Amino acid sequence: MKIFIETYGCQMNVSDSGKIVYLFARQGYQLTDVSRDADLIVINTCSVREKPELKIFSALGRYIPLKRQRPELVIAVGGCVAQQWGERLLKRCPGLDIVFGTHQLDRLPELVDKVRISRRAVSLTGFKESPGGLEVMAAPAQGAISAMVTIMQGCNNFCSYCIVPYVRGREYSRPSAAIIEEVTILARAGIKEVMFLGQNVNSYGLQEKDEISFVELLTLVHEIPGIERIRFTTSHPKDMSETLIAAFAELPKLSPYLHLPLQAGSDDVLSRMGRGYTAAAYLEKVEKLRRAVPGIALTTDIIVGFPGETEADFAKTLEMLERVRYDQIYSFKYSIRPGTRAAKFEDLVSDEEKRERLARCQGRQDEISQEILEAQVGAVSEVLVTGPSKRGAGEFSGRTGENRIVNFPAPAAIKVGEICRVRIVAALKHSLKGEVLA
Ligand code: SAH
Ligand code: SF4
Ligand code: F3S
Repeated sequence: MKIFIETYGCQMNVSDSGKIVYLFARQGYQLTDVSRDADLIVINTCSVREKPELKIFSALGRYIPLKRQRPELVIAVGGCVAQQWGERLLKRCPGLDIVFGTHQLDRLPELVDKVRISRRAVSLTGFKESPGGLEVMAAPAQGAISAMVTIMQGCNNFCSYCIVPYVRGREYSRPSAAIIEEVTILARAGIKEVMFLGQNVNSYGLQEKDEISFVELLTLVHEIPGIERIRFTTSHPKDMSETLIAAFAELPKLSPYLHLPLQAGSDDVLSRMGRGYTAAAYLEKVEKLRRAVPGIALTTDIIVGFPGETEADFAKTLEMLERVRYDQIYSFKYSIRPGTRAAKFEDLVSDEEKRERLARCQGRQDEISQEILEAQVGAVSEVLVTGPSKRGAGEFSGRTGENRIVNFPAPAAIKVGEICRVRIVAALKHSLKGEVLA
C-alpha cells in the first residue's frame, strides 16, 4: 500500500504530516510522491488565509478523478480547513472519503479501515481535552539532524483577524515528561537541533496545574546530551517574559534567533487586532533581547491592509522594519476569515492598496535582509552542517545560530551534523558563502 500526502500551512502541519506518514508506515504503507500510485491520499490543510484554503478545492479537483482508475483509492482531508468545514466538506466534495479534525490525527488509520469496509464517507472533527496526535512520536528521517517537536497546541489569544483558535482549539500543553522523553530519543537517534512548536510557546504549561514553565522546560532540555541547538516558534510578544529573555543569555544552546510576530507598527491597528502590546512595548522587548544577546537575529510576521489601516498607520509598520532590522519577514495581505471578530470590521482596505503596501514592505525588507547578510562578511560563525549544498559543486551547506544559510567548500573531514567554525567570505542573495577554519 502507498500513501501520498500534500501539506499546506505552518510547521505544525508539516510536523503533523510526518506523524501521519509514520502512523501508516507502522501498518506497512510506503510514502510515494506520485499521487496516481497512491492507495491513500491525505491533504493536510491550512485556513489561515483565504488563498491556502482555496487550494484544497483545486487539490481535490485533481485527486478525486483518480478514483475512476483506482476505485479502492481513499482520500482524506485533515488539518485546519477540515476542522472548520467538518461534514459540510463531504457534501461540497463528492468522492472525498474522510474529513478529520486537528484533534483527531491519531484516529486516521482507524477511519481509513472503516471507509475501506463500509465505503461510506466519514467526518470526525470534535475537539478533545488533549488533542489526539500530540503523543504520536514520528521517528526522525534517516540522516536528519533537526527535528520539530510540538510542545503545545491551540491558542487562547483570539487576535481579531485570526482563525487559529477556532480551528486548533484552546491551548493545551503536552506533559513535560513526554517532551523530555521524546527529545532524549531524538538525541539518541542523532538529532542535534530541536525546534519546539506551538501556536504560542511562551504560554507553555500555564493552563495546566503543576506543569513547569516554558523556561524551565528549555532548561531541562538544555541538559540532554547530544542536543546542540534549541529553537522554538511561535512566541507572542506580549508573553515574552524577562525570564525568557534572560534564558537566551544563560542557555548557550538556545540559538540566537527569534521569530517575534509584530503584525503591525501602528498602535491603533495593534489594538484593533487585539494583540495586547504597543509598538513601544514591542521595541522595548527587542532592546532587552539585544542587550541579553547582542547579534540575536529576529524575524517577524506582518499583515498589511488590516481594516481601517491608513497610509499613516502603514508608515509605522515600515518604520518598525527600520528600527528592528529583521533578518527576514513573512508578510501577508489581510484576508477576511469568516467567524473572526475582524470579519465584521468596516473600512476595508482595497485589494489594490493592500497589494501596493505589501510590495513596498517586501521591497524595503529585501534591502535590509541583504544589508544584514553583507554585514556578516569577515565574521566567524559556528555553523551546523546540514548536508550537501543545493548549489552542488561539492559544497556543503549549514546554518549559523542566527539561522542564516552558509555554503562552503568542505574539507574531507567534515560530517553532516557537526558544528564547525566558518569564516564568512561573501554575501549572496538569501545566503552566505564561507570557508571552514581549521
Ligand atoms: N501563533 C502565531 C502564528 C499564527 S498564523 C502568532 O501568534 O503569530 C501565522 C501568521 O499568519 C500570523 O502571524 C499572521 O501574520 C498571519 N495571519 C493570520 N491571520 C491572518 C489573516 N486573517 N490575514 C492575513 N494574515 C493572517
Ligand atoms: Fe492567531 Fe493571535 Fe493565536 Fe497567533 S496568537 S495563533 S495570531 S490568535
Ligand atoms: Fe494554517 Fe492551521 Fe497552521 S490555519 S497556519 S495550518 S495552525
